[in-house]
Amino acid sequence: MRPSVLGSAMRPSASPLVSRISMLSRPSHSSRRCLSHQATATPAPAPAPVPVQPARAISQLLKWKPEQNVDNVVVHGYVRSVRGLKAWRFVSLADGSSLDPLQAVIESGLAEGLTVGAAVRLTGSWVASPGAAQSHELQVREVKVLGSSDAKTFPIQKKYQTPEYLRTLPHLRPRTPLNALLLRLRSEAVTSLTQFFARQDFVQTHPPIITSSDCEGAGEVFTLNPANYTAGQPGKESADSQDSFFRSKKYLTVSTQLHLEALAQSVGNVWTLSPVFRAEQSDTSRHLSEFYMLEAEMSFVDDMNSVMDLAEDMMRQLGMDLYQSDTVKSLLTRTPHFGQDLAPAEEVDRRWQGLMQPDWPRITYTEAIDILKQHKDKFEHKPVWGAGLQSEHEKFIASTVGKDRPVFVTNYPRDIKAFYMRPTRGPGSEDPSRVTVDCFDLLVPELCEIAGGSMREHQLEPLLDIMTRQGIIKSPSETASEDDSGNGLQWYADLRRWGCPPHGGFGLGFDRLLSYLSGVQTVRDIVSFPRWYGRCDC
Ligand code: 4AD
Ligand code: MG
Repeated sequence: MRPSVLGSAMRPSASPLVSRISMLSRPSHSSRRCLSHQATATPAPAPAPVPVQPARAISQLLKWKPEQNVDNVVVHGYVRSVRGLKAWRFVSLADGSSLDPLQAVIESGLAEGLTVGAAVRLTGSWVASPGAAQSHELQVREVKVLGSSDAKTFPIQKKYQTPEYLRTLPHLRPRTPLNALLLRLRSEAVTSLTQFFARQDFVQTHPPIITSSDCEGAGEVFTLNPANYTAGQPGKESADSQDSFFRSKKYLTVSTQLHLEALAQSVGNVWTLSPVFRAEQSDTSRHLSEFYMLEAEMSFVDDMNSVMDLAEDMMRQLGMDLYQSDTVKSLLTRTPHFGQDLAPAEEVDRRWQGLMQPDWPRITYTEAIDILKQHKDKFEHKPVWGAGLQSEHEKFIASTVGKDRPVFVTNYPRDIKAFYMRPTRGPGSEDPSRVTVDCFDLLVPELCEIAGGSMREHQLEPLLDIMTRQGIIKSPSETASEDDSGNGLQWYADLRRWGCPPHGGFGLGFDRLLSYLSGVQTVRDIVSFPRWYGRCDC
């Protein structure tokens, strides 16, 4: 029994019957996150009308510590757990707005239907709590079960559940407090990035998802076919034939870059945050088959430092916008219960601090190889000029050169990079056996590459030359109209025929960045419905 606190909360002065009727008939209660505390009581005969509190988010309630009890507080949420004493029930209520639940104290007679997982509306008094775990609690006088739940079969528990198990329930996993926090982090990051680009006068664009080409040329595209396509059956659509849906092979985009380049020639600097798809058979903690890529393209830019500056400024601003937010604060102060599958809080804090630091190191690929060679005994794969950097190499460079700051590695050998990158000019680029391109990878410890960018070859002849040498087009004289049966990239060369200024841009693996900044150990747990090699659950 908790007579003293409850006794004061249930004082007759609260006039519960009048307020209950007026409150529950109000449409404004559907707006849960309204901050207003204003009274909107229906005119009522004496006694004086009781102020009606709009339904509030639990995160707001948990911060609200009034000295007096406040009656008629309404909250919507999901029952996370119920502890029962004989006469009273203690209900943990969550609504996805905070890691911590709200404690509601409910007379047993009112608690019917309050089972784990149920969606409810609770109305009562917000009062100082005698318990040590919370400053205030809701003394409930009215319960409305809005969506019942069979607790015996509801798979989400308040107790610890492994990430592997939760991954088997992608439709229910977002209801766990940590996954709700990750959803809020994503949303706040998108807001910050959108504001950043708006302030820089970048135009947000929507390039296509269905494309004619493999932008990166790595052969990791998913082909798109109508559902009734059956290979080799007469009369059925064939992806290769003229009577296929689009009359030639189409793919899901691996990067929107090429289309962004076209749009940048219209409105100047552009950006997008778009889903992209890669058919990599990589079963790692860093690879997804569907992920979000943030891509930006700058026109009338000749110096790659401007592109790196943009990527760096964007991420630093993201750090500054979010570091003080409630979401990041609760990420960094989470209890061990929530933190056991995340990188340690101090480590995650260092990542945020690093993001906010100025002057991220920029070293060339050749310098990186020289550094790696000095420590070659540490690696399984020998660092060799001309070969790609292995993740063990990237980890080493990120942690030793950058410390906590991300590191740009620039000017990789041309032969290991995509066809569209501009060859490096100027001193040091004379050796024909060591041709490099104006490109960069942005590396962070553990996650390795989180962004990649380059200057684009903006001149027609050199572009046609490299496209021909790589077999992307048959000959430099091939035209866009012959494109239907080709690799679908003549239009890209065409952009160089009519007013193509020097330009460059980058693509940021948005899910990798969020994994890094949240401490989640695999990108599979940073997206709500992960798709990776062999798995696409719902
Ligand atoms: O380095 P990538 O392949 O660059 C491009 O696609 C360029 N066309 C971008 C541009 O210049 N506009 O991919 C960009 C980033 C990588 O740095 C990595 O962070 C992420 O996308 N990424 C993946 N993230 C999750 N799962 C995968 N399978 C990924 N592949 C790349
Ligand atoms: Mg890359």
